[in-house]
Amino acid sequence: MNIVVGITGGIAAFKTAQLVSDLKKEGHNIDVIMSENATKFISPLTFETLTNNRVSIDTFDRNFSYDVHHISIAKKADVFVIVPCSANVIAKVAHGLADDMLTTTFLASNCPKIICPAMNTNMLNNKITQDNIKKCIEYGIKIVESDSGILACGDIGDGKLASIEKIKEEIYMTFYKKTLTGKKVLVSAGATIEEIDPIRYITNHSSGKMGYATAKAFRNLGAEVTLVTGKTNLNPVYKTNIIQVTSAKDMENAILQIKDDFDIIIMASAVADYTVKEKAKNKIKKSGDISLELVRTTDILKEIGKNKKENQILIGFAMESENLLENAKEKLINKNCDYIIANNVNQVGAGFNVDTNIVSIISREKVEQLEIMSKLDIGYKIAELCNGGVKQ
Ligand code: CTP
Repeated sequence: MNIVVGITGGIAAFKTAQLVSDLKKEGHNIDVIMSENATKFISPLTFETLTNNRVSIDTFDRNFSYDVHHISIAKKADVFVIVPCSANVIAKVAHGLADDMLTTTFLASNCPKIICPAMNTNMLNNKITQDNIKKCIEYGIKIVESDSGILACGDIGDGKLASIEKIKEEIYMTFYKKTLTGKKVLVSAGATIEEIDPIRYITNHSSGKMGYATAKAFRNLGAEVTLVTGKTNLNPVYKTNIIQVTSAKDMENAILQIKDDFDIIIMASAVADYTVKEKAKNKIKKSGDISLELVRTTDILKEIGKNKKENQILIGFAMESENLLENAKEKLINKNCDYIIANNVNQVGAGFNVDTNIVSIISREKVEQLEIMSKLDIGYKIAELCNGGVKQ
């Protein structure tokens, strides 16, 4: 994607270097436009080095190529984001003022636009700034609201630049066509925890990455996503409804209660098949050898499959270490799924704790073997199965 990053004069400008670096590494072309004031906080050289593109500052710079530079950047942009955006530039943008390279290009762009305000709390809360922000929203500009915290001026309050993670998510959400708007999607992710006593528990190696990436992909395509999550080390997926659970029983209760509200259900969680028959109230002290009595948990996917709502799409995962396709096909039929996403835990680049996966998509009609790809891209592939997934 072609991303234009505008930078205005504010101390948070140094954080924009991280954003630009991340986006570049994620494969995007970045054109940076800085206001004169921004160059006092951070050097254009930083961004030129990070992007391999020349940074634009002055509209009348005679060293640019012959085409009208601000118009050419505006034309090719898929998204235009101003990070950080000062009160001054918000005011200009809200009123169509175009007196430098940044504001001129912003006005000339037809792509989705995002503004990330960062400033002193009083400046932000001033009615003039608030009215200007409202005006920007009316003009279709997305605002990534600032966070609260300790500001550079020493004050504590609103006006701290939103996290780079959040800004990145907003950029990605802007890019995709909203092919799944109106669809309600439930994704389960992560590992369950079955407690033995107040100290110990049984769990598995699931990192939650596949489920979280799937939730992100569906959210980016406009679906309303509920993420029922067991244990992971991941940050909550931005702009999804999160239901945090611990045990297989908790996950069962949470999902079976709400399952009929959803058009699409994707079970990417690693649910324990067995739990401890009776959790010890107190710490089990060591003595001789002991054995634990384990009892079966409910197969949540199978339960959903038994009473599947008409037109509901049900997708399960199969994590296997042998006989992948046979086992996965059996799960498809036994659990009454529309699709099973099968992956072999023993393949390099697949399975737990990595950002890629190698999967086969199994339906009643066919088996489609996909190349190794990011878990996020597999999320989009799953969305395609649900009539979504078309990139702009
Ligand atoms: N699953 C579930 N409830 C369980 C166990 C699994 O809903 N108690 C779901 C998983 O979320 C996944 C699918 O069933 O979508 C397959 O899980 P997997 O662990 O691969 O297989 P199992 O069905 O548990 O069978 P086995 O362990 O014998 O391979």
